Amino acid sequence: MWRVKSLDAILATAEKKSLHRSLGPIQLTLLGIGAIIGTGIFVLTAAASQKAGPGMMVSFVIAGAVCAVAALCYSELAAMAPVSGSAYTYTYAVMGELLAWTVGWALILEYAVAASAVSVGWSGYVLGLIEQGLGFDFPDLLSAGPAWAMNGFIPTPDFSVGIVNIPAIIVALLVTGLLMLGTTESARVNAVLVLIKVAALAVFIVITLPAIKTANLSPFAPNGLFGEFSGMGIVGAAASIFFAYVGFDAVSTAAEETKNPQRNVPIGLIGSLAICTVFYLLVALGAAGAIGAQPVLGAAGQAVQPGSPAFIAACALPANAEALVCSNEALAHVLRVIGHPQIGNALGTAALLALPSVILMMIYGQTRIFFVMARDGLLPEGLTKIHPKWKTPYIVTAATGIAVAIGGALFPVGQLADISNSGTLFAFFMVSLAVLILRVKEPNRKRPFRTPFIWVFAPLSAFGCAFLFWNLPHDAKMVLPIWGGIGLVIYFLYGYRKSHLGRGLIEVHETDSDLPPPPVPPIR
Ligand code: ALA
Repeated sequence: MWRVKSLDAILATAEKKSLHRSLGPIQLTLLGIGAIIGTGIFVLTAAASQKAGPGMMVSFVIAGAVCAVAALCYSELAAMAPVSGSAYTYTYAVMGELLAWTVGWALILEYAVAASAVSVGWSGYVLGLIEQGLGFDFPDLLSAGPAWAMNGFIPTPDFSVGIVNIPAIIVALLVTGLLMLGTTESARVNAVLVLIKVAALAVFIVITLPAIKTANLSPFAPNGLFGEFSGMGIVGAAASIFFAYVGFDAVSTAAEETKNPQRNVPIGLIGSLAICTVFYLLVALGAAGAIGAQPVLGAAGQAVQPGSPAFIAACALPANAEALVCSNEALAHVLRVIGHPQIGNALGTAALLALPSVILMMIYGQTRIFFVMARDGLLPEGLTKIHPKWKTPYIVTAATGIAVAIGGALFPVGQLADISNSGTLFAFFMVSLAVLILRVKEPNRKRPFRTPFIWVFAPLSAFGCAFLFWNLPHDAKMVLPIWGGIGLVIYFLYGYRKSHLGRGLIEVHETDSDLPPPPVPPIR
């Protein structure tokens, strides 16, 4: 189970690829921004305010800084081994099959649960448009899942707030249907969607910055740095808002289609992260400064976790009707409150159009990870069966889509994002270790891109990921070991015996023709 896949075999795979290398630094940065901007900034700004107040601006910087050092580590491996499967494949080559399996298994958590989170985020904006824009009252019980309370270790639903989130189910299944039919977004459509998202955030910034009142920014950090309990305060908000940056690793997976990946992959990664960080900071400043971002308190005056039954009860009070932290469509809400309902609706429409492409990328990313793991024999190959007419891996896509829809139907967006973060942080942690171990084990291997100050940045990245993980809410933290335990059982029952590497089958895939086509073809 400690067997490693030879890095040379992986590189041979990459070199024999017939994929056309066509992406330049600008397209790559656009691809990154397209994958990054989504529910995080459009929706989770509210949850971050509940945890940190206006201090969430600092949370954006902390999460962005951890992503930046993780991106530098990613870049070294992505430029060296530009192959599918990213974190999973690197771990396979450096730390062996068992750990690679755990990373691949955690990536399932990252992608599928993130797709659920973005579906719920989309639902918030659609309901806002239906209710505020069209004046139509959508039944509350069908617009949100239940609130979950923990009784000891047993999650208990509270149906008084909602039963099932119907819009989230609809969007998850629609996107899944498109992917099953093999619909690929054209590069132009993707470029237009990226433009719509960026334009929406830019308009938000231009309108809210002049409306800032300094009094709204005080107290700046009502819950302090760490908060009273796990998951609160500025650092707790950073652990949650980390979600807003997830997706930059999409750039590393496009490395094989990149011209001069040595130079362009790091530019694409750092460039897209830097641009998003600037946007996020300005949006957070505009939102908090324009209408305030103070947390609502529980009945006994205590701090409460967003999405919890106590939080939902506090938000139901008339006094909190306009609170930023209570909105499911934070940015549109801010514009409505400061007297721009039409622009708020337009921003809602932008989110409505652009968020499904993030869901598409996430579900697609999921099927691609399944593919690479099945190609290594760690998952049954039958899962990746291609439909004769649609030419898509319809079984695995449908299964993923149904799981995504169930997640979106039953859980609040913040909790889904936190769970997704736990898987992502684990994968990034492993990549940070892998890049260091490889420097020690194979110091002379050609490295087209070398992470600068690696003995500072890689440990910093590993520490940053562990630190953010530790500051996630307790429930989200528990999901990773439970999910990992299930994964280990499956590995020892199945993958350990079926692994192609274990059975001596080291194949070099000459092309990626066995992989489904990417949903967003590169802009040529
Ligand atoms: N970063 C992506 C989002 O915020 C996942 O929706």
